[in-house]
Amino acid sequence: MKITLIGTAAAAALVAGSAMAQDTPIRIGLMLPYSGTYAQLGANITDAMQMAMEERNNGGVEVEYVQLDSEADPSAAVENARRLIDRDQVDILVGPVHSGVAMGMVQVVRQTGTPLIIPNAGVLAATGELCAPNIFRTSFSNWQPAYPSGFVAYEAGARTAVTLSWDYGAGHDATGGFAQAFTEAGGEVVEQLFLPFPDTNFQPLLTQIASMNPDAVFVFFAGGGAVQFLNDYNAAGLHGTIPLYGSGFLTDGVLDAVGDAADGVQTTLHYADGLDNAVDGPFREAFEARTGRVADVYAVQGYDTGQLIAQTLEAVGGDISDLDAFLEAMGEQTIASPRGEFTFSDAHNPIQDIYLREVRDGQNVMIGVAYEDLADPATGCTM
Ligand code: BEZ
Repeated sequence: MKITLIGTAAAAALVAGSAMAQDTPIRIGLMLPYSGTYAQLGANITDAMQMAMEERNNGGVEVEYVQLDSEADPSAAVENARRLIDRDQVDILVGPVHSGVAMGMVQVVRQTGTPLIIPNAGVLAATGELCAPNIFRTSFSNWQPAYPSGFVAYEAGARTAVTLSWDYGAGHDATGGFAQAFTEAGGEVVEQLFLPFPDTNFQPLLTQIASMNPDAVFVFFAGGGAVQFLNDYNAAGLHGTIPLYGSGFLTDGVLDAVGDAADGVQTTLHYADGLDNAVDGPFREAFEARTGRVADVYAVQGYDTGQLIAQTLEAVGGDISDLDAFLEAMGEQTIASPRGEFTFSDAHNPIQDIYLREVRDGQNVMIGVAYEDLADPATGCTM
């Protein structure tokens, strides 16, 4: 675990007409993976978030970032979150990517009241039974992108399916969402397979899938693990033989590394490459110019986290001393996202379109809207 103070971004220029009530910089703690299988996700979230903040003059205040490598390690999550809050005195916490780490962060901020903005981790409980006025998510619940895939696979003709994912909250939530829709439609999930996170020993499981010969396979993998899975699915002779579906993390941000091994794979997600809206094109250009990398869903989520923070700071005139007012203003924001405009549900999760995408020529091309304005059911949220 490494903590870095990455400096003061001076934004002394005030938003027109507002007074800067904050006489010390606002400290934003980033608890994201900067190493391991999710490292690229953490980098894209961080860079795009800071880009959005700068584009909006940091909401009219001075900000400091404190960066901590979460290493996607749930066992260190509580201690790391406490360190950022108690020792580094952050005002706002941003993170994480991994659902298990999110559970630790949620536990801590429910005690301290620190505003937490989750820019990726889709664990259902964060905006479900553990929802709280100070917990927001700019990304998705793991159920959201997975659920529509069940209908997509059924409508394509599949009547039996096998699911496969890492054995942690995100994998269970995502494959559960797929299974719910697939069975609602009339299909049968004949086997649910798991392997420990972040293992990539897919071969024995692929052999098992080949012998079961289902009509469809649905998976949850992301980052480096997704690259390995797509290559192994192809090498096992299953690509083009048993149709593969997934939450779109399977093919987002990985296509350069998999060549044509993912061609034709259909996934569902709240983003696709080259959406036809006014925000996406300029965002992608600016992100690539700044980082030398192609934007993906993680960059979008980081960007929207920066937009949310800056917009909320503008709304309260830079004054975060009244925490209730700050949180209320946050819940009222409409985000002009590269994914399309969205607002927050009462449980503080985005209500958003889920796109059906197909991999064509190294792009996640949008071929339809799999589900319009989908809100997570927020089961158990009593806020
Ligand atoms: C999760 O742990 O919730 C997650 C990680 C990577 C991509 C999507 C979800």
